[in-house]
Amino acid sequence: MDEQNWKDMESKYYMHAANRYPMVIERGEGTKLWDVNGNEYLDFTSGWAVNNIGHSNSVVADAIEKQSKTLLQTSNVFYTIPQLRLAEILIENSVLDKIFICNSGAEANEGAIKLARKWGRQNKNGANKILTAFDSFHGRTISTLAATGQPKYHETFMPVTEGFDYFELNNIDSLKSKIDDNTVGIMIEVVQGEGGVNICSQEFVQNVRKICDDKNIIMIIDEVQTGIGRLGSFYGYEKFGVEPDVITLAKGLGAGVPIGAILAKTEYSVFVPGDHGSTFGGNALTSAAAYASSKFILENDIPNNVNQLGSYFLSKLNELTSKFEIISEIRGMGLLIAIEFSSDIAADLINECNRNGLLVNAVRPNAIRFMPPLTVSEEEISEAMVKFTSAIESVLRK
Ligand SMILES: Cc1ncc(COP(=O)(O)O)c(C=O)c1O
Repeated sequence: MDEQNWKDMESKYYMHAANRYPMVIERGEGTKLWDVNGNEYLDFTSGWAVNNIGHSNSVVADAIEKQSKTLLQTSNVFYTIPQLRLAEILIENSVLDKIFICNSGAEANEGAIKLARKWGRQNKNGANKILTAFDSFHGRTISTLAATGQPKYHETFMPVTEGFDYFELNNIDSLKSKIDDNTVGIMIEVVQGEGGVNICSQEFVQNVRKICDDKNIIMIIDEVQTGIGRLGSFYGYEKFGVEPDVITLAKGLGAGVPIGAILAKTEYSVFVPGDHGSTFGGNALTSAAAYASSKFILENDIPNNVNQLGSYFLSKLNELTSKFEIISEIRGMGLLIAIEFSSDIAADLINECNRNGLLVNAVRPNAIRFMPPLTVSEEEISEAMVKFTSAIESVLRK
C-alpha cells in the first residue's frame, strides 16, 4: 500500500474529527519519526506533549513487553502490583496523599470535578460551582468541555454541564468577582497549553492558594500537560511554590500509552466504593509503562535537563527576533514553548516546516507551539531552529 491508499482508507472509514498533516507516520525513535515514504522528521509535537522520553524508548518498550507476557488487565476489585508501584512513585514524589488511576486527561478532570462536588456536598452546604480560566483546556467530555473556558468549544454541544464559571488568567480581581458561597473549586493550568502557552505568574498561583485557604475552596491544578517533567520539575506546581489540594495527570504520564490520574490530599479523597470507577483505569499494562517512564524520569533527573534545554531553546528562539520583525512574542517554561507572530502565518509555517522535516503545532492562527520529547538533545534543538528559520524565510518570501 502506498501513502495515497492509506489516505483513501482514512477518508472512507474514519470520522473527519481532525485535519491531518499530510504524512502517514510509520515509526519513531527518540525525537525522530519516519513516514511510509522513508522521510525523516524531527518531532517537536511528541504526540501532543505525550512521548516524554522519546519514541520507542526501550525502557517503556521493555516494560510493556514484560508486562504483556505477565498480566494485562484485571478488574479493579483485585490488587495488582504495577498499579500499586505506580501509585507509590507518583504519590511519594508529590505533596498529595491518594491516587485514582484512569485512562485520559478528560477522564482525570471529570473525576476531579466529581471529587470536588462530593466534598462540597459533604463539607460546604452542597457547594458545587467550579471556576476555571478563560482560554483553559480541560477536555472534551460534556463536563470537561464545560470546564474548558473557551465558549467556541461549547456551542455545538449545548447544553454542557452546568456549574462552571470563568475568570481572566493572572487577574485576581476577575477571579475574586466570580467567587460566592456556592464555589467549591478553582481549577487552573499553571501553564495553559492548548490555550496558547499562557504562563501563570507565581504571584497569581500563590494568590489562588491563599483565596482557596481563606474561602474553603479546593485548589485543583490540571497537570495533564504540565506534569511529569514538562516544565522542568516533576510536577508543574513545584515551579510556583504552592501545594495544590488536587492535581490531574495524563499525557506524559504514560510516555505514549493512554493513562491518566487524579491525586488528592487525604481530606479531598472522598470517593467510597460505588462513587467512581473505571474498567481499564490502572490496568497492569499501562501502569507498568507509566511506572517505568516515571522512574526513568526521576532517576535520570530529566526535569533538570528540561530546565537547561528549555533555556537553550528560548535563547535560540530569541535570536530570531532580531532577524524577523514579524515575531511578536516568545514565551515558555521548560519544554513547553510558543512563538507568536504579528500576523496569521502559523498554517503556512506548518506546511513549510513539514517540507523541511520538522513537526510543530499551530496552537493559534498566529502562534506555533513546541513540545519536543524531554530527552531531545541540544543538537536536535539547533537543527530544528535551522529548519524553522528557513520555514519562516519561505513563508515571508511568498
Ligand atoms: C491541560 C489539559 N487538560 C486536559 C486535556 C484533555 O486530555 P485528553 O485529551 O487526554 O482527554 C488536555 C489535552 O490537551 C490538556 O492539555
